Amino acid sequence: MSGRPHLRAGIVGSGFAAAFHYEALHRVYRVDVEITGVFSPNAEKRGAFANDRGITAFDSLAALIDASDVIHVCTPPSTHEEIAVTALAAGRSCIVEKPFTGFFGDGSKDFDGRTFDREAGLREAMASVQRMLEAERTSAGSILYAENWVYAPAIQKEREIIEKTGAQIVWMHGEESHSGSHSPYYGKWEHSGGGSIMGKAVHPLTAALYLKKVEGRARSGRPIRPVAVSARTHAVTTSDWFRDEGHLRTSYTDIEDYGAVHVVFEDGSFADIFASELVLGGVHNWIEVCTNNHRTVCNINPNSAMQTYNPKEENFRDIYVVEKTGTKQGWAFTSPDEEWFTGYQHEMNAFYSSVADGHEPESDSRLAADTIAVVYAAYLSAAQWGREVAVPQAGE
Ligand SMILES: NC(=O)c1ccc[n+]([C@@H]2O[C@H](COP(=O)([O-])OP(=O)(O)OC[C@H]3O[C@@H](n4cnc5c(N)ncnc54)[C@H](O)[C@@H]3O)[C@@H](O)[C@H]2O)c1
Repeated sequence: MSGRPHLRAGIVGSGFAAAFHYEALHRVYRVDVEITGVFSPNAEKRGAFANDRGITAFDSLAALIDASDVIHVCTPPSTHEEIAVTALAAGRSCIVEKPFTGFFGDGSKDFDGRTFDREAGLREAMASVQRMLEAERTSAGSILYAENWVYAPAIQKEREIIEKTGAQIVWMHGEESHSGSHSPYYGKWEHSGGGSIMGKAVHPLTAALYLKKVEGRARSGRPIRPVAVSARTHAVTTSDWFRDEGHLRTSYTDIEDYGAVHVVFEDGSFADIFASELVLGGVHNWIEVCTNNHRTVCNINPNSAMQTYNPKEENFRDIYVVEKTGTKQGWAFTSPDEEWFTGYQHEMNAFYSSVADGHEPESDSRLAADTIAVVYAAYLSAAQWGREVAVPQAGE
């Protein structure tokens, strides 16, 4: 016996996020975690995921929930609500991947993410958020929102600086971009609930909302929340003016591949967040924080902890360098421990500590709800060429 609290983890989904959750679970030190197994709809894929890792492949969500204390929701965004609500109803805590939930169409065959009524989208997305908050309120379990940026060491260091200096954040700007998502579900609104804003901007956006929460909490005990948003979107790689040379993913159906979001907070401060599928040279994930007493740049990826020069592609054939670069030749921002910088293991350790000790996580359902409120208010704004739209106050 380790003397540490013991919790059983069940993973839903057997794709990319399931794999990094599995790895991060091995780096939890505060709690003794037993990984009970995995469930996903395709028997062959969940079997392969389980076999490769020596865990059990469950043939139903119910069976996985029965055998677990904490459920990891590592599935396409359109499925998050149903899985989380089911697990919460059974009294389990849920780690829900980003984006929390959203609007995924009306179920009709001819639904088109480019043309639907954005007012209805905002209303439906907020209704989904409210159902998840309600499921949490009436559950013995809780929601832990898997926004790894909140737990990235650079963001947590900035939290400490804000708390100890009493800083007032006046402006933030941040971005998450790369050359296109790998998931086959991404690119169809009915699965992903949006494009670059929903899939990518949520990372720096939640970090910005979190840092204003930290500032408000330090000064007055309550978060400073977003109240208004203006946004623009573009669909570049599917447009007839884009000349494809094969470096950017172009197989999107009905989503935007660029988004710019200007968020105004209740105290008058603001943040500018960019997201796109248009950036070559690897992941471009950062946020800059301008305050009344300091300025910080948080480089999530890349960062300059390590740089390598490789004269010949072939040399690094078996070496992982850094996320989503097209070549390993030449200079590279090689990441010596990418998961550490992106916050995955810190997030998992914090979540399991929260569940074991019964304290609220830094990245909670309120932060998730505010993020979705900003995202769908942004889509409404973008449909009106950037008109300012009020952000619904979720949970009130
Ligand atoms: N935090 C991050 O950095 C990060 C990175 C990548 C993905 N994600 C998020 O993780 C989630 C999953 O993305 P991914 O890249 O792993 O996708 P993926 O396509 O690689 O995997 C999705 C998995 O979900 C399974 N699935 C689909 N519908 C299901 C259902 N109804 N019930 C159970 N399983 C179901 C699929 O079979 C598949 O195994 C998304 O919300 C995505 O935004 C987060």
